[in-house]
Amino acid sequence: MYTYEHDEAVRKLLNKRTPVLPDKMIKKCVRKVHKMSDIFHEAREKFGSPLYFLDIPSLNERAERFLSVFSEAFGDFSPFFAMKSCNHPYIIQTLAGMGFGIDVSSGRELETAISCGAEKIVFSGPAKTMTELELAVRHSDRVTILCDSFTELNKLTVIGKPIRVGVRLTTENNPLWRKFGIQHDELEQFINMAENSCVTFCGIQFHSSWNLNPDNHVELIRNLGKTIQKLPKDHKKRIEFIDIGGGYWPEEGEWILADTAEEMKLNKQLLNQPCDPLDHRYLPATDISTYADALSAAFNEHILPYAGCRVFAEPGRFVAHGAIHMLLTVEDIKQPDIAITDGATNMLGWERYEMDYFPVINVSQISETEYPMMVLGSLCTPHDVWGYAYHGGGMSIGDLLIIPDQGAYTYSLRQNFIKEIPESVVFSGINHELVNCTFLTQSQD
Ligand SMILES: Cc1ncc(COP(=O)(O)O)c(C=O)c1O
Repeated sequence: MYTYEHDEAVRKLLNKRTPVLPDKMIKKCVRKVHKMSDIFHEAREKFGSPLYFLDIPSLNERAERFLSVFSEAFGDFSPFFAMKSCNHPYIIQTLAGMGFGIDVSSGRELETAISCGAEKIVFSGPAKTMTELELAVRHSDRVTILCDSFTELNKLTVIGKPIRVGVRLTTENNPLWRKFGIQHDELEQFINMAENSCVTFCGIQFHSSWNLNPDNHVELIRNLGKTIQKLPKDHKKRIEFIDIGGGYWPEEGEWILADTAEEMKLNKQLLNQPCDPLDHRYLPATDISTYADALSAAFNEHILPYAGCRVFAEPGRFVAHGAIHMLLTVEDIKQPDIAITDGATNMLGWERYEMDYFPVINVSQISETEYPMMVLGSLCTPHDVWGYAYHGGGMSIGDLLIIPDQGAYTYSLRQNFIKEIPESVVFSGINHELVNCTFLTQSQD
């Protein structure tokens, strides 16, 4: 079983060097939290602990940045926030109020988007049910359905009411990703069928996830250009928009535990050597304006000569990243190296911090120094980890801890497991006002 190829592969992997997360990037994040420490203490005094702390100035800043950079790059551009990345109604309302459309992927999300006042909605996602499509058709004034298959188009024909539709194209050969969209060579047939039905065909969507740089997106735009080029002239004219999906990584890059870096993981398996809890790694990401420029150059070269259309995008993670911070209190200290918090990782529904790194920041004992310590949640399972180190001048029962920048793929995955789901508090930034928004979230839980 063991071959020379294994030898080579192991050597190659062990020689890999995942970059060390620069200390100045961690410090920047820690200092931002320290500056807001009074408001975190006030939130706990007024509303208790644990809490989802909604940071609206941070949300606004990222949303505005995305909007301005992409609008400048593309001119005729519309963003649709991907609700799956964060379905907090206050956040959806805020973004809808800023002119963002909303990208929904279920009837449930569609109802939330409508109740939050979204005026423009794209409805994507596989295997939409008859009930979901009927709901969308009832709101055809604001919803464009991005069909995922011919079956969905047939269902819309059965419903028999007019609505705008686009179609998602499959982007990858990866077996699990083939569940999304139709093949490129089926596009002409899809447009023909749509034209002979009650719906109006008006656009094309694709999506690819987890892009740290624009290379993958650029390749997808190039391929789409080839497909569009082959379409009959009257089909090309019908394309009003190309929706380039989401998947833009926050500019900070992906922060991971040293254990998660491939070469370190292998080293640990082979030699059983644990990683240093203060060793953090990262995968750098392209800044968003360079990203948008690369996409617009590809669009101008490969699509515009054949279809003079507008551009939609569906950012999720990039916009939501800084919108929520986890607010926790130390409930118990077991050993000098084990702290247990009142809140737990059912707040985010997955074991994120067994792979990803985010600083755990003690705002009761402020210090920029990081110390090793296991900071764990209070669920009755060992897979309930916030981190393996904390920034602070010590750690005591009753201390207030913040884990910043947890807005994406946390709240929307919250889990009704063992402990209750905490309340949310909104920091609007205006007069440092704090508002409890339980009334908004109750209907969702
Ligand atoms: C169709 C679609 N659009 C947009 C997104 C948002 O991606 P991200 O949060 O990485 O920007 C997703 C995420 O999976 C998606 O499936």
